[in-house]
Amino acid sequence: MVFRALVTDRPVGGGVASRVESVDESRLPQGDVLVSVEWTGLNYKDALCLAGQGGLVKTYPHVGGIDFAGRVIESGDARYHPGQAVLLTGWRVGELTWGGFAQRARVKADWLVPLPKRFSSRTAMMLGTAGLAAMLAVNRLQAQGVKAGDGEVLVTGAAGGVGSIAVLLLARLGYRVVAGTGRTERAELLTRLGASRIVGRDELLAGSGKVLGKEIWAGAIDNVGGPLLGEVLKGVRRGGAVAAVGNAGGRNWDASVIPFILRGISLCGIDTVMQPYEARVAAWDRLTTLFVPAAFEPVLTEAGLEDLPGLADRMLKGEVAGRVIVNPRDPST
Ligand SMILES: NC(=O)c1ccc[n+]([C@@H]2O[C@H](COP(=O)([O-])OP(=O)(O)OC[C@H]3O[C@@H](n4cnc5c(N)ncnc54)[C@H](OP(=O)(O)O)[C@@H]3O)[C@@H](O)[C@H]2O)c1
Repeated sequence: MVFRALVTDRPVGGGVASRVESVDESRLPQGDVLVSVEWTGLNYKDALCLAGQGGLVKTYPHVGGIDFAGRVIESGDARYHPGQAVLLTGWRVGELTWGGFAQRARVKADWLVPLPKRFSSRTAMMLGTAGLAAMLAVNRLQAQGVKAGDGEVLVTGAAGGVGSIAVLLLARLGYRVVAGTGRTERAELLTRLGASRIVGRDELLAGSGKVLGKEIWAGAIDNVGGPLLGEVLKGVRRGGAVAAVGNAGGRNWDASVIPFILRGISLCGIDTVMQPYEARVAAWDRLTTLFVPAAFEPVLTEAGLEDLPGLADRMLKGEVAGRVIVNPRDPST
C-alpha cells in the first residue's frame, strides 16, 4: 500500500527540504497500531523540525507531525481495534519517529488515546498538542488556587495556537482574561474568543528595570518564555501562579528570586510530551466540556501537506495565527 507523506530530507547542498511523496507502507517505523491519519496539526515544534532547527530530528528521511487523529487500520494490541477513532500527541512522535504528516502512521499502542466520543478527528486536531498544553496549563493554575474572580489572568503569545485556546478555555471558566500579543491587529478575534482586554508585547516587555513591578496578574499562561516571562513574573500578585508552556520568544531571562520570596508566587512547568495516559485522557475529557469548536473556527486555517513548509517558515517568524489543521489527503481527489 502506498500513501502520501510529506518527507523531509537533507539535500546534498545542506539544510533540509520537504516535499510530498508516495511512500510504501513497508517504510513506516515499527509499532503495534497502524492508523489512517484523517487530520494532523502544525505546532511550533513541527515548524522547528520542518526548518531543521532545534536538533529535534535525528535521522532522515523523516516524516514530521507531532499530533494526529484518525482511525485504526490494524492493531496488534488488544486495547485498539480496526475502525476505532484515536488520537496521538507527544511521545516525541514526529521528532524521533515518523509522525502525522502522512496518510498513514504506525505507532506504539501506549502512545495513543481513544478519541473522545464528543469530538470528531477534525475537532481533536483543532486542539491538538496546543489544546492539551492549554488545558494542562489551566488545570495547573487552578491546582495552585488561582480562581475566577481573583483578578486578571494573562495569556502571552495569545494570537498563537496554545495562546488562543488558553484564552477561550479561561474565558469559558469565567476568568477575566488579558491577551498579551505582538499582533494587536488580532484584538477583535481575541476578544471574540473571550479576552476582556489586549496588552501589547512591547508593553509587557517594557518593565521598569526593578525586581518587582505592580501586582497585576492573578495568574498567567506563558507561551513566549525568555525576557517576557521574566517581566510577567514581576507583575504577578501575591500567591499567584504562572504556567510556563513555551519558548517562542527565547529561553533565558535575568532571573531574581524576589517575586517568589516576597510574593510567594509559583512558576509551574507544563510538559505535554511525556504526560501519562490517565492524565491525557482526563485532560481531553475536560476539553470536551469546555472547548467550543464553532467559536474557534474564525482562528483556524485548513491546509494540505504541500502547504506545510511555507507555513512553518511563517510560524517561526511569528506570522501564523490561531491553529493550522492539515488534511493529508490528495487535494485533487
Ligand atoms: N510545554 C509543552 O508541552 C508545549 C506544548 C505545545 C507548545 N509548546 C510551546 O508553546 C509555544 C507556543 O506553541 P504554539 O504551537 O502555540 O506556537 P504558535 O502558534 O507559533 O504561537 C506562538 C506565539 O508566540 C508569540 N511569538 C512568536 N515569536 C515570538 C517572539 N520572537 N517573541 C515573542 N513572542 C513571540 C506569537 O504570539 P503573538 O503574535 O500573540 O505575540 C506566536 O503566535 C512554543 O514555544 C511551543 O514550543 C509547548
